Amino acid sequence: MEKILEIKNLSVIRKQKEKFVPVLNDINFSIEKDELFCLVGESGCGKTSLALSIMKLLPKSFTVKSGEIFVNGKNILAMDEQSIRSMRGREMSIIFQDPGAYLDPLFTIGVHMKEAFHGDTKQQQVLMTSALKEVGLEPYMLHSYPHQLSGGQQQRVMIAMALINKPSLVIADEPTTALDILTTYQIINLLDTIRKKYHPGMLFITHDLKLATKIGTRTGIMYNGYIVEIFIPGKTRPAHPYSSILMGTEYKYSRISEATLSWQSDICPFFEKCPERDSECEKQIAFTWYQDMTGIRCIKHGRNSQV
Ligand SMILES: Nc1ncnc2c1ncn2[C@@H]1O[C@H](COP(=O)(O)OP(=O)(O)O)[C@@H](O)[C@H]1O
Ligand code: SF4
Ligand SMILES: [Mg+2]
Repeated sequence: MEKILEIKNLSVIRKQKEKFVPVLNDINFSIEKDELFCLVGESGCGKTSLALSIMKLLPKSFTVKSGEIFVNGKNILAMDEQSIRSMRGREMSIIFQDPGAYLDPLFTIGVHMKEAFHGDTKQQQVLMTSALKEVGLEPYMLHSYPHQLSGGQQQRVMIAMALINKPSLVIADEPTTALDILTTYQIINLLDTIRKKYHPGMLFITHDLKLATKIGTRTGIMYNGYIVEIFIPGKTRPAHPYSSILMGTEYKYSRISEATLSWQSDICPFFEKCPERDSECEKQIAFTWYQDMTGIRCIKHGRNSQV
């Protein structure tokens, strides 16, 4: 299968006061064409930082310590700003959590969409109109201002902009968190329809494990900047103690406050909270991969059992 995204040994740190603190540690995974990889984890675990690393949009206080990111085989981290800018939108695009924060109230939807469009200008109007229709909006909305649209409609505009150039990688960072339940399901269905039509590789970030297992072809569980498990919903049962805790709360989001998270790179990242920890876990735990591209970072739980 064609690999759209490949991340190898990625570690990111950020400067906090005069110290550097880890944000992402030893991240390794890839996404193939037509795959919907869901990344699940609680607030502050590093999901957005991972998305921004791929887009090469990390804040200035963040530094990639090591690793490589390939999109369509191109080494993102080695590219200059001009080259990466020409890839954003065309080959990879991102849909953020809060569309209101990304749409400038002074400009119409049409102006925003023109900015996002990178194709033949002669086709611009036709393609902008069809992109709007594709996400269930009316063409007249090209003349509307962001405040004239509902939150759901604004997110549809963001999706239309993200997809207008048919990128091969689409990242959706909690695209429905700011929306009500009905609109959430409409947006999820829309993304699913679009995926089935254009077959991009999709990285869908959410804190909702139930949603992830429902829509994803593979699911990654993130904790404290580490991917602790990758499983295939409906095929392999998650086995990592953290995944089990998330599953045990009837898939409900179990928040462990950010302040309790601490960073010790030389022990299991889940050590502090793990009900099964013992002295054996007080060492670096490698991620064990299996042939079906699933895996786990735990010394006590091996091969995921079948569902
Ligand atoms: N712009 C920023 N400046 C400084 N620290 C940040 C910024 N954005 C996120 N962080 C910190 O980086 C860590 C990872 O955050 P983030 O990637 O946003 O997690 P998530 O998306 O999973 O909630 C957290 O400790 C968060 O407080
Ligand atoms: S390695 Fe040990 S502490 Fe870490 S998740 Fe597994 S059992 Fe828990
Ligand atoms: Mg986030």
